[in-house]
Amino acid sequence: MKVLVSDSLSEEGVAKLEEHFDVEVSTGLSEDELVEKIGEFDALVIRSGTQVTARVIEAADKLKIVGRAGVGVDNIDIPAATEKGIIVVNAPEGNMLSAAEHTIAMMLSMARNIPQATASLKAGKWERKKFLGVEVNGKTLGVIGLGRIGAEVAKRAQGLEMNILAYDPFVNEDRAKELGVELASVKNIAKRADFITVHTPLTKETRNILDTEEFDLMKPTARVINCARGGIINEDALGQALKNDKIAGAAIDVFTNEPPENCSFVGLENAVVTPHLGASTEEAQVNVAVSVAEEVISVLNGGPARST
Ligand code: MLT
Repeated sequence: MKVLVSDSLSEEGVAKLEEHFDVEVSTGLSEDELVEKIGEFDALVIRSGTQVTARVIEAADKLKIVGRAGVGVDNIDIPAATEKGIIVVNAPEGNMLSAAEHTIAMMLSMARNIPQATASLKAGKWERKKFLGVEVNGKTLGVIGLGRIGAEVAKRAQGLEMNILAYDPFVNEDRAKELGVELASVKNIAKRADFITVHTPLTKETRNILDTEEFDLMKPTARVINCARGGIINEDALGQALKNDKIAGAAIDVFTNEPPENCSFVGLENAVVTPHLGASTEEAQVNVAVSVAEEVISVLNGGPARST
């Protein structure tokens, strides 16, 4: 059987697949190129770069499984795949610690102006006064989405002596108590939090969950973080809030279009930005690649899929 790997996947994952199947690694394919190719393959393994559109699915005559080495499956047309009987699996746990650590790194970088100060020093300046930061100790972190990654972020922030407010319609008071967090509405978080981080998937319910209305409620010292998915925070509203000093800063790893085009805040001094690096650690990349390879091996050999 033949497996197409169309985004860069760690060697460990490719090697595992090669023990069982004929594997082709072709990255950077356009939709047309993928449509032309996909008909020969039994499995497709992707990260976030490949868009598995309805056209790709339609052309996928032999395809049995799409394996997403990572969490988000928003780049796959799931209804089209389901209708064609194609299984979609992801690797929901392999990169959660890396994503949580990146969130904390972004929060601290923003609080202490580390990227801006690095750029300034490298440009030959010595601007100690300009880069006065804030402590996170004793501050309130609002966590929107208290799933696997959100809960890991909360745990780490508690280690920094932060108080946690959380919004998650699927989390009850018992679970909140267990995690030591206070449940609150998004609007309440917007009013009270010093830092707000989002950890939901991108769905029609979560798109623009932080928009102009929420930015209007925030303190001028509030700072927001998005290491989840572009579009959960409305990008234009965020740009306006940063330009008009309605909030103090943003740390953003993910964008509606990647790479971002004409994004209203990427160039702003009070924005810290990284190119979708949340899962980009050696450990996470091996974890997700091996996990998804095991799923593909199981399914193509007639076994069950563990995560869907
Ligand atoms: C994920 O959904 O797993 C992360 O955003 C990382 C990635 O897209 O590879």
